[in-house]
Amino acid sequence: MTTAAQVQTGLRELNSIYLPRLAEIVKTEQLTKMEKLFEIKFRDGRDLGHQPGQFVEVSLFGIGEAPISVSSSPTKKGSFELAVRAVGNVTRALHTLNQGASLGIRGPFGQGFPVEEMKGKDILFVAGGIGLVPLRSLINYVLDNRSDFSRLLVLFGAKTPAEQLFLDELAKWRQSKEVEYWETVDRSDGQWKGNIGVITTLFPKITVDPQKTVAVIVGPPVMYRFAILEAQVKGIPDDQIIVSLERRMKCGVGKCGHCQVNHVYVCQEGPVFRYAKIKDLKEAI
Ligand SMILES: Cc1cc2nc3c(=O)[nH]c(=O)nc-3n(C[C@H](O)[C@H](O)[C@H](O)COP(=O)(O)OP(=O)(O)OC[C@H]3O[C@@H](n4cnc5c(N)ncnc54)[C@H](O)[C@@H]3O)c2cc1C
Ligand code: FES
Repeated sequence: MTTAAQVQTGLRELNSIYLPRLAEIVKTEQLTKMEKLFEIKFRDGRDLGHQPGQFVEVSLFGIGEAPISVSSSPTKKGSFELAVRAVGNVTRALHTLNQGASLGIRGPFGQGFPVEEMKGKDILFVAGGIGLVPLRSLINYVLDNRSDFSRLLVLFGAKTPAEQLFLDELAKWRQSKEVEYWETVDRSDGQWKGNIGVITTLFPKITVDPQKTVAVIVGPPVMYRFAILEAQVKGIPDDQIIVSLERRMKCGVGKCGHCQVNHVYVCQEGPVFRYAKIKDLKEAI
């Protein structure tokens, strides 16, 4: 028989996954025409306690919720950052909010990047466009724990120079001795002096030790097939290729089925997956 105490515990657990926690925007920064960065803190002062690669459900009262990746590293304490592209109801409304505005946050949810297993390895980060948002959390985590990792290579591709995100950080990585940074744009604006072409044009420029390398690939759906193929051509085994899949999500906690790919609930088993695990899953890539 279910006791009153068990009912209470069950209700508390349900509340904790469905009830947004009250948070406040500390700072905003327009990153590009479409993307804005939000620094957010909880009203109760607690940290988010996320892993790089996890996401939260952002709740705007009276409007709705949207899943958004956490873009800051867990090494940043007291607040966290979300970089949001204005595309629909929630994200457009979020873009109108400024410092001091209230919002709700559920989460963090999902499986993040396997940072413990990546320690001691060479890491090849491959970010396409807005894919840099979740990868930035991992890159900054790795840089803040630099001695735990070996070589770090970052490949970043944007459609145009105006669509490059996090310009200050890119400038640091270009100068840094800690990171081997390579970048490209699909189309130049006339001023661009760097590589022109899709992100896969950067792969022939790098050398990797495949058995020692973990490739972490995040970008638009069209990028995955080709970037994964390039990583395989370099000899990187499928279980050392890690991707983050974006699927339509609603609840974020394995209840509604919106995110389902065959038998897999992306919100719970992902969004981060080893390629070896999902390569035979129809429609995953
Ligand atoms: C794990 C995860 C992490 C994410 N991280 C980020 C992030 O860091 N930053 C970010 O900007 N975005 C991120 N997204 C994407 C973001 O959640 C979506 O863009 C979300 O739809 C925005 O909500 P909205 O209410 O503003 O847009 P919506 O009103 O949902 O509309 C978004 C677009 O999708 C279309 N659309 C809506 N519903 C459907 C449907 N059922 N079928 C087909 N098309 C539809 C709309 O017409 C519109 O073009 C992430 C998504 C996931 C799953
Ligand atoms: S988003 Fe509801 S089950 Fe995954």
